[in-house]
Amino acid sequence: MLDYVTDKPDSHRVQDEKRQGEAFAPFANDPNAYRKRFYIESYGCQMNFADSEIVASILNKEGFGATRNVEEADLIFINTCSIREKAEQTVRKRLTEFRKLKEQKKGMLVGVLGCMAERLKSKFLEEEKLVDIVVGPDAYRTLPGLVEEAEGGQKAVNVLLSREETYADIAPVRLDSNGVSAFVSIMRGCNNMCSFCVVPFTRGRERSRDAESIVHECRELFNNGYREVTLLGQNVDSYYYQAPSSPQGEAVTFANLLEIVALISPLLRVRFSTSHPKDITDEVLHTMAKYENICKYIHLPVQSGSTRVLQLMNRTYTREWYMAKVNRIREIIPDCGISSDIIAGFCTEEEQDHKDTLDVMEYSKYDFSYMFFYSERPGTLAQKRYKDDVPENVKKRRLQEIVEVQNRLSLLSNKNDIGKIFKVLIEGDSKRNEKEWKGRNSQNKVIVFPKENYELKKGDFVEVKVDDCTQATLLGKIIGR
Ligand code: 5AD
Ligand code: SF4
Repeated sequence: MLDYVTDKPDSHRVQDEKRQGEAFAPFANDPNAYRKRFYIESYGCQMNFADSEIVASILNKEGFGATRNVEEADLIFINTCSIREKAEQTVRKRLTEFRKLKEQKKGMLVGVLGCMAERLKSKFLEEEKLVDIVVGPDAYRTLPGLVEEAEGGQKAVNVLLSREETYADIAPVRLDSNGVSAFVSIMRGCNNMCSFCVVPFTRGRERSRDAESIVHECRELFNNGYREVTLLGQNVDSYYYQAPSSPQGEAVTFANLLEIVALISPLLRVRFSTSHPKDITDEVLHTMAKYENICKYIHLPVQSGSTRVLQLMNRTYTREWYMAKVNRIREIIPDCGISSDIIAGFCTEEEQDHKDTLDVMEYSKYDFSYMFFYSERPGTLAQKRYKDDVPENVKKRRLQEIVEVQNRLSLLSNKNDIGKIFKVLIEGDSKRNEKEWKGRNSQNKVIVFPKENYELKKGDFVEVKVDDCTQATLLGKIIGR
């Protein structure tokens, strides 16, 4: 069974099930042009997928070419996730498959990147004998040197975390992109210390990337035909950049950054993820309302609806405070889509706490949610302080109830859209039928509609009227451009 559930199969936000284990090879090139070939597979959140694009860029500069065919690779990289135990198990399983390949091909090297590398450090080399290279999320610049060391027969490890590294100057190689939407990392790490979360330990302290480099990257994407950027960070609302060259100058806040990126072109849609309810400000909401091209969609993880559990989770807000934030969003941006992350069965959770969670879901009317049962992670505050005391069958039953509420809310939300007209950015053919387009509205809902005889292409905006829906998708017809 999956350790998480989403009612939104098409989402491209966190742990997109479809993208897990995705392998990349963007370069259509002469196979002789490269001294070595690498294969990279990514797991986990969008941040990891964005990091793989930075890794590809670093390796490419050193004369390594990407391949989608693992058997052809000299170097295999697996960019890993530690957020839940299941994610780590998936990686372990995949590594045993790589073992077979390695036995067949002399000189093939296997590298582990990302959060699991950071969490386990050199222990990885003891536990998984086939691994040659272990690199944490802040050490990717040293990869070429580490590869060289490993080629010389040594095991190579760099898991140093940094207070500064943002890879600001590295132009990511867009891997397996649809050419329309791209992710742009704006900050790294997290200082929040939610008690269940391993991220502050695997990705280190929070730091914001140079605003100018972000805007430059977004502008380049736009000039290359992209029509949507998603600004990524563990907690984007605490973005804050003060240029070291002008310490007296004005700092850039997240609201400022949103505005600057939105001003690149009205034809460039701007999204962001993830927001922490404690940090999202009115200024951000007003900026969203002001610019048509800033998408009206906020991922606002609640995690639990019980104030007592929220406190144990160290989320620093109460249930009432969260609900007031939802009200504020609806007040300033009436048509805003809202989604959430929810954890079932956190330490000490009682039936009443669980009911409070279901109740917050109903109140917030989430358009969709990512739903998990609690998985204790070594080294986290919760693991040190509390007992993981909710039995597994209870966790699963509560998760199931959460999923059922969300399914109902999602369907209701989609039904409410029937008859409405949305501006849709075309992302490509629909999965099932090449005579249909698939795109998204501002609220991040997927819309599928017949191409008919319109002269349209990927990356175009089109007006679509919704005439039907499923729980996960809106269905409609083009009514104009
Ligand atoms: N167990 C279950 N879910 C978790 N998440 C983070 N840590 C855990 C954990 N230990 C979920 C949170 C977070 C999302 C990315 O993953 O809901 O928002
Ligand atoms: Fe983890 Fe909380 Fe930071 Fe999100 S905000 S990465 S849940 S510590």
